[in-house]
Amino acid sequence: MADQDSRAGERYATAQILDYTARTHHPADPALERAFEAPARHGMPEIQLGPAEGRLLELLLRLVNAHKVVEIGTLAGYSALWMARALPPGGHLWTIESDPTHAGVAAEVIGEAGLGDRVSIIRGDAAEVLPKLSDSGPFCAVFVDADKARYDAYGRWATENLRTGGLLIGDNAYLFGRLLDDVVEAAAMRRFHEEMAKHYRSVCIPTPDGLAVGLRVDPEA
Ligand code: SAH
Ligand code: DHB
Ligand code: MG
Repeated sequence: MADQDSRAGERYATAQILDYTARTHHPADPALERAFEAPARHGMPEIQLGPAEGRLLELLLRLVNAHKVVEIGTLAGYSALWMARALPPGGHLWTIESDPTHAGVAAEVIGEAGLGDRVSIIRGDAAEVLPKLSDSGPFCAVFVDADKARYDAYGRWATENLRTGGLLIGDNAYLFGRLLDDVVEAAAMRRFHEEMAKHYRSVCIPTPDGLAVGLRVDPEA
């Protein structure tokens, strides 16, 4: 029974099935499609979330009534756009990006979508930005999708700065298949998982590279 979730190789999702389910559940949306294509258009790495993962972020944020959200790793603003759409009036997303080119493209993408007033793109290294951002908390959700060697530090910051019932979400939770290897990024990612398991009610969803999701539980409970 221990390996119920590890029936590796059983892949029922064909490209055609994924296309059908995406079209059916979240019909084509020109602004999101433009944002998805922005990295390719600007010669940036194409490492944004997939559309179903973006949709999942939107739903998760809606489920916890998230109104103050932090993203670490903006790229061209694709995941930010999904999350910004989940916010109620007056809600806000702070998204941190260290690469000036990426931040510039993201500002364009978010502006074109008409969501500039709900999103602050903070330019800088998350390690320097996060301590200052604490003043704007506590937050309802933190999405981690930047440098993998610092996921442990980002997870600890989230635990300090999320409200009870808030969400911590981490992309690339399988670390490109290297989660169990003897490298620094893997040790940091495993500490991120362990931090979540300790302070959250959590799960790692088997997306292509794993999406860890945790609900912050009452520290006193
Ligand atoms: N969340 C995005 C993808 C992020 S890709 C989406 O799904 O659309 C990872 C991004 O993190 C890259 O743009 C990279 O420049 C940025 N990044 C890496 N290390 C960082 C750091 N220390 N601080 C801020 N951003 C960082
Ligand atoms: C890379 C980073 C990501 O966040 C991702 O989802 C895929 C790839 C990378 O740095 O290569
Ligand atoms: Mg990622």
